[in-house]
Amino acid sequence: QIVYLADYRPTDFVLERVDLTFELHPTETKVDARLIFHRRKGTDNKAPLVLDGDELSLAGLLLDQAEVPAEQYEATAESLTVRDLPESAPFELTITTIINPEANTQLMGLYRTGSIYCTQCEAEGFRRITYFPDRPDVLAPYTVNIIADKAANPLLLSNGNFLGGAGYGEGKHFAAWFDPHPKPSYLFALVAGDLGVVEDTFVTMSGREVALKIYVEHGKEPRAAYAMDALKRSMKWDEERFGREYDLDIFMIVAVSDFNMGAMENKGLNIFNDKYVLADPEIATDADYANIEAIIAHEYFHNWTGNRITCRDWFQLCLKEGLTVYRDHEFSADQRSRPVKRIAEVRHLKSEQFPEDGGPLAHPVRPTKYREINNFYTTTVYEKGSEVTRMIATLLGRDLFKKGMDLYFDHHDGQAVTIEDFIKCFEDVSCRDLTQFSLWYHQAGTPLVTASGSYDAGDKTFTLSLEQMVPATPGQTAKEPMHIPLRMALFAEDGAVLMPTSVTGAELTDDVLHLTERAQSVVFHGIPSRPVLSLNRSFSTPINLQFSQSAKDLALIARYEADHFARWQALIDLGLPNLLQAARDARQGIPVTCDAAFVDALLAAANDESLEPAFRAQALALPSEADIARELGGNNDPDAIHAGRQAILALIAEAGKEIFAALYDSMQTPGPFSPDAASAGRRALRNAALTYLSQSDNAPARAKAAYDAANNMTDLSAALTILAHRFPETVEAKAALENFHDRFAENALVIDKWFAIQAAIPGAATLERIQGLIETPLFKRTNPNRMRALVGTFAFANPTGFGRADGAGYRFLAQEILDIDQRNPQLAARILTSMRSWRLLEPVRADHARSALMQIERAGALSTDVRDIVDRILKE
Ligand code: ARG
Ligand code: ZN
Repeated sequence: QIVYLADYRPTDFVLERVDLTFELHPTETKVDARLIFHRRKGTDNKAPLVLDGDELSLAGLLLDQAEVPAEQYEATAESLTVRDLPESAPFELTITTIINPEANTQLMGLYRTGSIYCTQCEAEGFRRITYFPDRPDVLAPYTVNIIADKAANPLLLSNGNFLGGAGYGEGKHFAAWFDPHPKPSYLFALVAGDLGVVEDTFVTMSGREVALKIYVEHGKEPRAAYAMDALKRSMKWDEERFGREYDLDIFMIVAVSDFNMGAMENKGLNIFNDKYVLADPEIATDADYANIEAIIAHEYFHNWTGNRITCRDWFQLCLKEGLTVYRDHEFSADQRSRPVKRIAEVRHLKSEQFPEDGGPLAHPVRPTKYREINNFYTTTVYEKGSEVTRMIATLLGRDLFKKGMDLYFDHHDGQAVTIEDFIKCFEDVSCRDLTQFSLWYHQAGTPLVTASGSYDAGDKTFTLSLEQMVPATPGQTAKEPMHIPLRMALFAEDGAVLMPTSVTGAELTDDVLHLTERAQSVVFHGIPSRPVLSLNRSFSTPINLQFSQSAKDLALIARYEADHFARWQALIDLGLPNLLQAARDARQGIPVTCDAAFVDALLAAANDESLEPAFRAQALALPSEADIARELGGNNDPDAIHAGRQAILALIAEAGKEIFAALYDSMQTPGPFSPDAASAGRRALRNAALTYLSQSDNAPARAKAAYDAANNMTDLSAALTILAHRFPETVEAKAALENFHDRFAENALVIDKWFAIQAAIPGAATLERIQGLIETPLFKRTNPNRMRALVGTFAFANPTGFGRADGAGYRFLAQEILDIDQRNPQLAARILTSMRSWRLLEPVRADHARSALMQIERAGALSTDVRDIVDRILKE
């Protein structure tokens, strides 16, 4: 059934405290939950207490230590109802459940990963451990006692501070933890087992010493060093930038190899997918290092934005996620290059969130209904949520934004709140009315802004006409105009900035132009010569912008803009029409051509030594096939898109031969490996050059030589990708794949790369390769990372292989989804979202895609997760 925001009401009972005792056993773990409640004042004195459960069975129930008579309660797998409870006095309920961690393949609740016990409770996993008011607005302090076999589980961890431990009968021991900070159940965590540890300390700004511990598999401790460094930098940054100090004696991170998502911010005990903890030059790429830094920061930042202040209900998910993504983006921007980070964010937003917002799964950043909350951990809630937070900072300016955040922390610490509470803080400090702005939380769909400019030399005025349109999305047909903050600048032909003497028709504060009406005509006065307009600088607002600028103007922006994001955007705008035309031409069998203005501007940027290498590498990375498909907008043929894009790559490669050869030689990183951003940028530019060189060579030799010479995973995987994707049938590619396999067979995270690189090989033959890979001993169906690497990469990142014309890719996916769904519904639903853009395919493929989706739809026992996605994707 469907949950509606409008139905929210507080619980009838207030939870005062929680006291949990776990007797761990692989298949029969006993959980005693002692819960102290009292009736909320002003509620119905007779109302029963109804607790949530999921696949539970009740093994015992006490009320104030006395057995509860059978007629006073009712227990099912999904709920426990207790009647005739005290009208005003507090009471204690002791609930006993027996659960089976070993059989828990959903990886929600308490489960096993290898020989480790671990938990994942967000959003509704705690109810798989015990009956509980499992919702984020029920906050209490927790005591946790863990009893387990000592030899197998020397380590017994939970949230908060360590109280003590001791032996406990033969071969067992126990540990007790107390978390004084009231928290909702989704932040509960428990870990037990035998792990190695890396330890450090951090002294907070008020001088308290915090013990830092990162737990990993024995022998992998050195690979946690970078994560530890990132953690300390995150703690420092949050103090300096947001005034936020850590609040327990200990902060722990545990890395596990079976995990449904990236990581989880459990209070004081973060649990991570080990992919986002473990790194050394031999196994991790520069991108892996950057991800580790960002995700360590993200989870740590949740301690204030999420844990100290949490969500009233799950509709408010963006309250913690959008805000925390914004915070981790800012952290990475400060640690690395701000414009390069911004480019990466926008690439990600456009390739992941824009298709979601423009397709059948579109939903507001703050939704009003859901069938399965797990399906709302989306790029809209996270990444668009972050963009909305960024826009608040843009509207208010840095100082007022900081003030608003301070007010939020002051005012709502210890509470479970809403987006309205959050916005109110910024209204209060700025005296701005943010009602219209709030539509960003409520209206789904990417706004389309159309712009056109005209210069009047006589009046010395530049007139900019702006129009906005928010497209219809499922359940939302009519939309209101939004408040769209557009950063902008005007340039003279020589690149000098032109400042207007006055502006009419719109508010302009600093470089932010406020578009608030459906259509607005803005006049810039005192402009001495025809200006070149740079609009939506630094991607200040997440929109589609339609603004035809001449190649000459775009080239000027690409050369002179102080905002390097805008330079990159100008290069994209120069290149995109070529890529779109190339796809059309390839489909018609017409030879592909490319504007010289684009190639020249691109090569000029690549060769510009005043620009940082990481930026130049971003400039050389053309929009992906999926990006081109989205821009084409329908009746898409993935083969033609691929062929057209390859042809453009070849033309650039030919024109830039000397430049790429010189870059490949000069962008070396001598000396010992360092993951710092500058070195990573040099490697990125060098590997971009290698990609182009391998185009013009049309031979695998150079890439194979690069593979053999590589002394770090970034270079090794880049060379392997070129070999496998461009020359898959050659002996060089085969030898490199085999070498990579043999070298890293023992390292799951690296073998994931081996699977992923092969899953992304363009062309129809890849499906058969994948079917072969599934049969290899290294393929593990129960491991989410492995499934995402092979099946996920194929479906999300291989348009020609997955979308082969006979529809076999879609049918393969349907079978896989049905199979995965038996074990792990969340994972199945997530991979299925790869089908969200099926309506943009040409009719034959679209038909195949529809049939495959209907095959899923018609299958009998679907999880709510998959049912929800497939229904929405198929809905007209
Ligand atoms: N809160 C976690 C994070 O963003 C992610 C939890 C995802 N939960 C889920 N059911 N998908 O850091
Ligand atoms: Zn998060």
